[in-house]
Amino acid sequence: MMTLDINLGHKSYKIYIKRGIISQLGRLLTKTNDEKIAVITDSNIYKLHGKKISDALSDFDMGFIVVEPGEKSKSITTLQYVYKQLLNLKITRSDTIITFGGGVVGDLGGFAASTFLRGIPYFQIPTSLTAQIDSSIGGKVAVDLPEGKNLVGSFYHPDAVFIDPDFLETLDERFFSDGMAEVIKYGCIDDSALFERLMGYKSKKDLLTDMEQIIYKCCSIKKNFVEEDEKDTGRRMILNFGHTFGHAVEKYFNYNKYTHGEAVAVGMYKITKKSEEMGITKPGTHNLIKNILTKYKLPYEIADADNRAILKAIEVDKKNKGPYIDIVLLKSIGDSFIKRINRDDIFMYFS
Ligand code: GLY
Repeated sequence: MMTLDINLGHKSYKIYIKRGIISQLGRLLTKTNDEKIAVITDSNIYKLHGKKISDALSDFDMGFIVVEPGEKSKSITTLQYVYKQLLNLKITRSDTIITFGGGVVGDLGGFAASTFLRGIPYFQIPTSLTAQIDSSIGGKVAVDLPEGKNLVGSFYHPDAVFIDPDFLETLDERFFSDGMAEVIKYGCIDDSALFERLMGYKSKKDLLTDMEQIIYKCCSIKKNFVEEDEKDTGRRMILNFGHTFGHAVEKYFNYNKYTHGEAVAVGMYKITKKSEEMGITKPGTHNLIKNILTKYKLPYEIADADNRAILKAIEVDKKNKGPYIDIVLLKSIGDSFIKRINRDDIFMYFS
């Protein structure tokens, strides 16, 4: 089993990575009293894997809270439903929540845990690739508002994260590629060896064979950024490489044409193409990104779209600061930095 420790001043917790770890959950969650466990999940994951969790937790008094799959569940309405179910299960502050699913369930359930009764301990069991290498790590939990994604949330870390790469085997191809966009991002921002390794796989089977190491590598990169800048006011923003344009693309298409990873893929390519033209980025870098995105069945351009209209969507992005906007650029693959630019200059970087 591979483990990583997230060490924050006020809290430390472990990330466990192992195929089949779900079956050992009952042993890993030491039972100290008669605590109850509420498992928040979505109906797809419940159908596919719910029994694995209830079998693993057979010694515990546990109940499921099942929400609809998809981003629409990251809403105040679903959050209210979750609170009601937590009340029905008579969850108290000495009980525990488990979020069991992809990013939506992790963010929604984590936010419910952070706010219900002013905070309940919780564990993350991410099942999608994006959740395993990104959203379950680092304590960001939130719900969306009609005006934008993640507009209501907090930083609330789990007591542990249990990552079982076996869940990736039931993941739809498109959502596997979606997660690969974030894996590629880690290579771009911090680790050229990871980037090359990803370029070198001959088949998905080869990649899956290495998946524990790949997940470990991504989580350790994220751990470093989170430990250095937990509240996302400085270096952690590097993790947003490709996200300024990516978020705008998602919003412009009402979150129903491109997945998050696909939108980020386009964002990474477009900004690098531009920064290369400006002489900031090593020549040839945008082509390397294009090649790796193509290899992992990800888009690098948006068809039939008006860039200016897409960029207008950036205006509601919560990360904007007054007249400036922070963007992430590459010097070369594996070497990134934050550049603060005038908001009005944003078009220069994506046009
Ligand atoms: N997904 C970016 C972050 O957690 O900061």
